[in-house]
Amino acid sequence: MKRMHFIRRFLLSIITMVSIINHSAAEPVSTEKAADIYNRYCVLCHGNQGMGDGLLPIKIDNYSKANLLLDIKANSKNEIIKIIMLGGQVEGISSYMPPWQGELKPAEIEALAELIMGLRTDTQAYIVLLKNRANLSQKVDFSGRVIYQGRCVLCHGSTGEGNGRMARIIKTPPPADLTASRLPDEMMLDIIRNGGQVVGRSPQMPPWKDQLSEPEIKVLMGFLKSIRD
Ligand code: HEC
Ligand code: HEC
Repeated sequence: MKRMHFIRRFLLSIITMVSIINHSAAEPVSTEKAADIYNRYCVLCHGNQGMGDGLLPIKIDNYSKANLLLDIKANSKNEIIKIIMLGGQVEGISSYMPPWQGELKPAEIEALAELIMGLRTDTQAYIVLLKNRANLSQKVDFSGRVIYQGRCVLCHGSTGEGNGRMARIIKTPPPADLTASRLPDEMMLDIIRNGGQVVGRSPQMPPWKDQLSEPEIKVLMGFLKSIRD
């Protein structure tokens, strides 16, 4: 009898432990963290304030409107979560909206959905939050690799070979294979600062000088040179 009791106690404690672990895995992501994720992954298209004036939509003709505050397709939190997870795979949603499931954790996606709801209802406060977090991250994101992962991966791919997820859509020309790039420093700086269009290349390579500080661009260049093959 005693033995049975012990086994039950033992099993119960395992179940409790597992549920604690599960719970902490799904711990909610703070609004500040959601703003950081937005600034890193979403600004390129949706813009600093969610108005759809990111670098991509204004540079590409016929680009789908990416305003998160107007002509809204997803009204409830669950609809927003679904679109963030599946992107253009949801019927009626442009293929320019990438799917983020796999890339972002469920708790991060949920926090992003709440951030978007906040932007819609309390716009001014949330714009200030996004701006403050962006200023903060310019001071801390000082690894070239981290900046690359946040800003360039979508097109140039995680290994820099030009096979990011947007490469399915951007084809003429495709995002450059940065491991094969041999651009001299000055030309590389120029295209990163000012974008493709200004240097006579594709406008689909966005200009970064308003998004990244000069020191950030310098460490990013260091990273790009380190991945050349
Ligand atoms: C490469 C460009 C691009 C990126 C990056 C991007 N989006 Fe989008 N997104 C779009 C476009 C374009 C639409 C409009 C789709 C439509 O209306 O058919 C859209 C639509 C949406 C919608 C639906 C808005 C509505 O009408 O209710 C949500 C929500 C959304 N995006 C969230 C995000 C989040 C969160 C991120 C970052 C994790 C993100 N997007 C990153 C291009 C992008
Ligand atoms: C929306 C897609 C997109 C994003 C995001 C993007 N690029 Fe590009 N990039 C391109 C395209 C397309 C080209 C090819 C331009 C051409 O050859 O006309 C290119 C070309 C380049 C080149 C020129 C390489 C060579 O040797 O010709 C460099 C350097 C570069 N990108 C760096 C970056 C960096 C750094 C980032 C992130 C801060 C970035 N790109 C983000 C699309 C993108």
